[in-house]
Amino acid sequence: MPKRDKVQNKKDEHDRIAEIRVAGMRSIELVVVRTDGLAVLLGENGSGKSTIVEACELLRKSPRPDFLDTFHRHHAGFNSLGSDALRLGVTIVGRGPALRYDFSLLHEGIHTVIESEELRVGSGKHARPVLVRTRSGAKILSPERNRLVAYKGYAPEQFLLPLLVARDDAPYASFARTVRALEGIEVHLPFEVLPYWSRKAYNRPSGMRGSAYVQPTDRVELLGNDLANAFYQLKNARSPEHWRETLEYIKLGLGDEVEDVSTEGDPGGGEIALNITFSGQRPEPATAMSDGMLAYLALIAVLRLENQRSLLVFDEPDLHLHPHLLRRVVDFFETTAKGQPVLIATQSDQFLDALANPSRSAHICRLDDQRRTRLYRLDASSLERWLKRYRGIGELRSEGYEDFVLGEEES
Ligand SMILES: Nc1ncnc2c1ncn2[C@@H]1O[C@H](COP(=O)(O)OP(=O)(O)OP(=O)(O)O)[C@@H](O)[C@H]1O
Ligand SMILES: [Mg+2]
Repeated sequence: MPKRDKVQNKKDEHDRIAEIRVAGMRSIELVVVRTDGLAVLLGENGSGKSTIVEACELLRKSPRPDFLDTFHRHHAGFNSLGSDALRLGVTIVGRGPALRYDFSLLHEGIHTVIESEELRVGSGKHARPVLVRTRSGAKILSPERNRLVAYKGYAPEQFLLPLLVARDDAPYASFARTVRALEGIEVHLPFEVLPYWSRKAYNRPSGMRGSAYVQPTDRVELLGNDLANAFYQLKNARSPEHWRETLEYIKLGLGDEVEDVSTEGDPGGGEIALNITFSGQRPEPATAMSDGMLAYLALIAVLRLENQRSLLVFDEPDLHLHPHLLRRVVDFFETTAKGQPVLIATQSDQFLDALANPSRSAHICRLDDQRRTRLYRLDASSLERWLKRYRGIGELRSEGYEDFVLGEEES
């Protein structure tokens, strides 16, 4: 390949989150999760998986001006963390030199304050800070003077990095790259497939089974809300080939009898609702679809609505899925992870069994005797030995022999 093309490819590459750092969050004293390809957090109840997912959600929201407000109102602030200092960070790779962004929040009386914020560019000993903020002030690397100089005029309750980018006062491409990568994290929880009637009975919005206003979207919303709209986009805003391929993905899970997935318009209100049609049958509306079917459709929509995400995070995507469907889903995640990092939290041994390369993908979460989360890799060679005796690694785990295949602790 000519040299110029290589450079071009590098430029076209998307930024991805290669590592997440979390400290001071419930059972997590400090964990570093490498999110290269497919990373699967596996562990028992209470081992800290969902806390890592929530840390990703906090990182995603961190560039917003109202972040601290959201931290309190949606995440219950320090009340819910069991610590007085929260530290979060990411490493970003892709479009240029590696970037490391870290910040910390402190609990002071009834207040939450930003204790520190730092962006470093480059890796290893070549890394250099371009933004450093502490309690006593902020400094930015001056392009003219090539050293850190004081930056004034920022709000104490907002992160400086997104503020600079929003003000167009960010002197380096790395500032905007970092904000975009944080905003490009996409977090999903198990899809809320509750029966339509149960939502009606308690006057709750009808979620993924209900109708949605037609509007451009490149994401499935949290809990699968707005799913009809996501399918409307897939069917009408992508090429016919793209839709045919999406339908093939659906058939792989739900059977060749699937004839179509459509979005029917409500003539009155500009809203649409989702239907699936099996050959020779009447269309089934989302209000009547089975839980697993609906969850599978939502997963397909997430994976097919390709966007420039920097990290796709899923807590328990296996919920509601029959093992056969789950295998398909793991395949899809593995394919997606070739282009963008995917982080999954699950306790499903079947998920583990379906992984092509468990010693590479699996991160075992365990609580130590202080009830602190520790992360371990699986040891490839002992895993191979044990798998000769067991049906699958999932069985090994459920039999309690996991210790024999545990590799090094990660961090
Ligand atoms: N204030 C606190 N201080 C320390 N630890 C806490 C605090 N609050 C909750 N925890 C612990 O943090 C852990 C959080 O678990 P988390 O929800 O991340 O687990 P999980 O691996 O997702 O479990 P599950 O499989 O049940 O969903 C639990 O072990 C919980 O007991
Ligand atoms: Mg959980």
